[in-house]
Amino acid sequence: METGMKLYILNGPNLNMLGIREPALYGNTTYAALIEMIEAHCKQKEIEAICLQSNHEGQLVDWIQEAYFEGADGIVINPGAYTHTSIALLDALKSTNLPAVEVHISNVAEREAFRQISYLRVACVKTIVGHGIGGYLEAIDYLADLRKDSFVCE
Ligand code: DQA
Repeated sequence: METGMKLYILNGPNLNMLGIREPALYGNTTYAALIEMIEAHCKQKEIEAICLQSNHEGQLVDWIQEAYFEGADGIVINPGAYTHTSIALLDALKSTNLPAVEVHISNVAEREAFRQISYLRVACVKTIVGHGIGGYLEAIDYLADLRKDSFVCE
């Protein structure tokens, strides 16, 4: 059990449109259903999940900082298109020094050239691409295991 663990699950622009936007790439699950799935998974593992979505870069910066000030144990982030543009999000992640996992629903590696760059990747302990919405659960499990490992070392 990962009792007491707190994770911020952040989604960037257009991810509120899941289930509507380009279903061939992103599937048919809505954002609301994704959050239900994440919350159920976290509840079972006794992880507190703070799930937030914004279309605005500065809001995402604020939430990354909030994760630090609220004592979160890690961040799962799908930065959407800001992945490929945002030095501000990179700097925010680096500022917190929290373990972060970058998630992409689609397989960005097989998409346009401009999606091959991730500004955030160097500040993340892991990147999961192309595993659909299951990637979020993988990211949560990865962070939970990291924490368990750190307990073992103490
Ligand atoms: C995405 C991939 C990004 O390139 C895109 O801009 C998104 C979603 C994904 O989850 O596959 O908005 O992050």
